[in-house]
Amino acid sequence: MKVTIVGAGNVGATCAEYIAQKRIASKVVLLDIKKGIAEGKALDLTQTATTLGFNTSITGVTNDYSETIGSDVVVITSGVPRKPGMTREELIGINAGIVKAVSSSILEYSPDTIIVVVSNPMDTMTYLALQSTGLPKNRIIGMGGALDSSRFKTYLSIALDRPANDIQGMVIGGHGDTTMIPLTRIASYNGAPVSDYLNKTTLDKVAADTMVGGATLTKLLGTSAWYAPGASVAYLVDSILNDQKRIIPCSVLLEGEYGLEDICIGVPCIIGSNGIESIIDVKLDEKENQQMIESAKKVRTMNTALKDIL
Ligand code: 2OP
Repeated sequence: MKVTIVGAGNVGATCAEYIAQKRIASKVVLLDIKKGIAEGKALDLTQTATTLGFNTSITGVTNDYSETIGSDVVVITSGVPRKPGMTREELIGINAGIVKAVSSSILEYSPDTIIVVVSNPMDTMTYLALQSTGLPKNRIIGMGGALDSSRFKTYLSIALDRPANDIQGMVIGGHGDTTMIPLTRIASYNGAPVSDYLNKTTLDKVAADTMVGGATLTKLLGTSAWYAPGASVAYLVDSILNDQKRIIPCSVLLEGEYGLEDICIGVPCIIGSNGIESIIDVKLDEKENQQMIESAKKVRTMNTALKDIL
């Protein structure tokens, strides 16, 4: 199985690293527009193969899409990352042109591929990729919910002082500081509601910390995060290539689900070899429904900026 990662920055390279280390694909191509970056990172990663015991071939190319031919999955991480104090939404002008051009170049060489969009503002970039390529909705997947959910479970595990892997929880809505909806009501610790263990003030703080999870890291690192984003992409790619049919919150075109349409926004999906295999209809309570409406409103405002690009 072949995976192309467009953008060999921190997120793209880390994603390649985890895909190889976890033996998710036999071939990874890293592509970047900056001369030598993808080649250098691919070579560096390749030199870890014998120490780490993987056989995935990792190659790097400078803007040569012919090398990406026949990719089963293409991950788009290209564009500029946010700097401290910036929102993901402020990146729209620069990243929209890039995502549109990249999507079209990818399809020239891999017409049957599934595209995973990571570039920010992610929901809007997913919508753009979908509209500009005309691909069916199952083949364009926005990666944000997997990452936001992993941050949510991390903060829950810290609050509970229990292992993160014993915690179930998901974040839906937009992948933005004010659009994310951490579903604390249905989060659980080994099947028991987390509200059995944590009071409302703590749960509200967990939700608030989750929503600014990316911004907190941007402030600390001076640029946006890469380990958790890279791992979340690898997790998603694994579910596609190995047809695992995991439930993963992803940004997908809604056509009436959750009372919304003509928008890409995070909802739980079954992810398998066809990409988005189906959308899971979680019963939201009144407050969560209202949050989803507000979230969609903000994502839609962002999408209107695309009218000059599409
Ligand atoms: C984040 O939340 C990169 O959007 C990504 O860290």
